[in-house]
Amino acid sequence: MEYVKITENLSLSRIIQGFWRLTDWHWDTETLAEFMRGCIVRGVTTFDTAEIYGNTLCEREMGKVFAKYPEIRRQIQLVTKTGIKKIGGMPYGEGKTVQIAKHYDTRYETIKQACRDSLERLHCGYIDLYLIHREDPLLDPHAAAKALLELKEEGLVREIGVSNFDPWKFNALNNCTGGQLVMNQIEFSPVCYEHLDSGMLDLLLEKGIHPMIWSPLAGGKIFTSEEAPYQKVRSVLEEIAERHHTAPETVLYAWILYHPAGMLPLVGSNKLYRLDNAIAALDIRLEHWEWYEIYLATGEKRMR
Ligand SMILES: NC(=O)c1ccc[n+]([C@@H]2O[C@H](COP(=O)([O-])OP(=O)(O)OC[C@H]3O[C@@H](n4cnc5c(N)ncnc54)[C@H](OP(=O)(O)O)[C@@H]3O)[C@@H](O)[C@H]2O)c1
Repeated sequence: MEYVKITENLSLSRIIQGFWRLTDWHWDTETLAEFMRGCIVRGVTTFDTAEIYGNTLCEREMGKVFAKYPEIRRQIQLVTKTGIKKIGGMPYGEGKTVQIAKHYDTRYETIKQACRDSLERLHCGYIDLYLIHREDPLLDPHAAAKALLELKEEGLVREIGVSNFDPWKFNALNNCTGGQLVMNQIEFSPVCYEHLDSGMLDLLLEKGIHPMIWSPLAGGKIFTSEEAPYQKVRSVLEEIAERHHTAPETVLYAWILYHPAGMLPLVGSNKLYRLDNAIAALDIRLEHWEWYEIYLATGEKRMR
């Protein structure tokens, strides 16, 4: 496994395990602990979650493992996120309940409290990397920066960053933190070029920030969907996989690793053999022109 030095305090494994789908897996604590050990044994020591995953249940389930097996927590780098708030019944007024719609909350007090709540659910003393989950139309970068920096000073989080931010919003918050954001976790795949087109990847390259990449397989659709863009990508991946004597998904991870931004792909599967297919990409070197074969596969991008 490769490890990427994010700061003096923090290195992350180049391949990261994501736990967004954990609550769909219906695992007990022992099964989850065994899976985590399987990741660690493979060198995949960075784990990603968020308070909104399973409406906090994902953090709770992971926390049960860390409480029972603290050595697992000691061996990993834990990433979690705040800012997307749950949907459901909330107490309102005297004896009343109101159904709260999905919304964002990145106010100063909310960030501070959300971090303490995550730590409690996760049974941890600190979070290695704490992210603002999404752009919030009500985000005040001064207030959010103050909260994040205080959490760092208090030792509750080691490093801070964001997810899904565009270059303008990243710069605004980053400037307010005195340049202390070390992450933008973004979506990137052969069917999603939002951050390539926005200039976000150029900004991250300029700053030497390695982005974590979510849904690198488009949530699996690249290998399951019959819709044309996915089918086209799949067929190019299969062709290149034959040339390299490897699995098509390994080629896809190799395509992500090839980008000069030094991307850290997140694996969303609950199957260790699929994690192995991602790890195998570290040993695959695509030809430069093969990267473009995949880049152009859907037909959305054209060479001029
Ligand atoms: N920051 C954000 O806003 C954000 C948003 C979404 C996700 N994330 C993070 O990114 C992580 C990864 O995202 P993701 O789960 O969407 O990643 P993904 O790897 O693109 O998708 C994983 C899904 O694809 C399926 N899959 C994998 N390989 C397959 C194959 N060869 N054939 C068919 N299906 C296959 C998996 O099913 P099996 O389990 O059956 O293998 C799983 O359901 C999440 O866990 C989360 O930590 C962050």
